[in-house]
Amino acid sequence: MKPLKIAIQKSGRLNEKSVELLKNCGLNFENYKSSLISPVSNFPLEILFLRDDDIPEYVQDGIADLGIVGENVIQETEVEVTYLQKLGFGKCSLKIAVQNNSSIESLAELDGKSIATTYPVILDKFLKSNNIQADIRTISGSVEISPGLGLSDAICDLVSTGGTLKSNGLKPFADVMSSEAVLIGRKGSENEDLVQELIQRVQSVLRAKE
Ligand code: PRP
Ligand code: ZN
Ligand code: MG
Repeated sequence: MKPLKIAIQKSGRLNEKSVELLKNCGLNFENYKSSLISPVSNFPLEILFLRDDDIPEYVQDGIADLGIVGENVIQETEVEVTYLQKLGFGKCSLKIAVQNNSSIESLAELDGKSIATTYPVILDKFLKSNNIQADIRTISGSVEISPGLGLSDAICDLVSTGGTLKSNGLKPFADVMSSEAVLIGRKGSENEDLVQELIQRVQSVLRAKE
């Protein structure tokens, strides 16, 4: 039987909890070191260690059968995947923030301003639904330093503890979406029985935690 593949984040906020969840499912495998694929010795499964941003597409395209990723990344990539289970970790929100000394205090005041983000798709929808015209500056990381450098008036980024905003002299003032890690799959997987068995293991780990 061809092994299933599950894609998880290689490094970052969701990596450790994703590995922990799979280990708690009774799966034996080596954590990511340099190989991007780790076989599971006691279940027909391979773990793929990827950048989180690529996970939804890998699942949509059938390269991976399952994936663990933040809802924010799924919304941003606009893929067709099936939400199988919320996982209860990686909770965060996508927020708009400005410098502590900024005069901007309401959504309406963003009109005509520039906002730096790595989430242009979600931000664009949010601004449209609030009738705000702002200039979205898409960058691929370190968004928090953008206002200080004069690159933008505001940012839109994920906030978890709030530590990153704080240490960069920023204050949040609008919530765009909240997010947590979810297990995703796709309709019509070749290995439906194995997929179901894995989902059940995940669900019983979550139930035991309640
Ligand atoms: C997010 C975000 C901030 C940080 C905020 O990055 O871009 O850098 O987390 O967390 P805090 O509020 O606890 O300080 P993430 O870990 O999602 O990594 P990525 O942007 O590289 O995918
Ligand atoms: Zn990322
Ligand atoms: Mg980041």
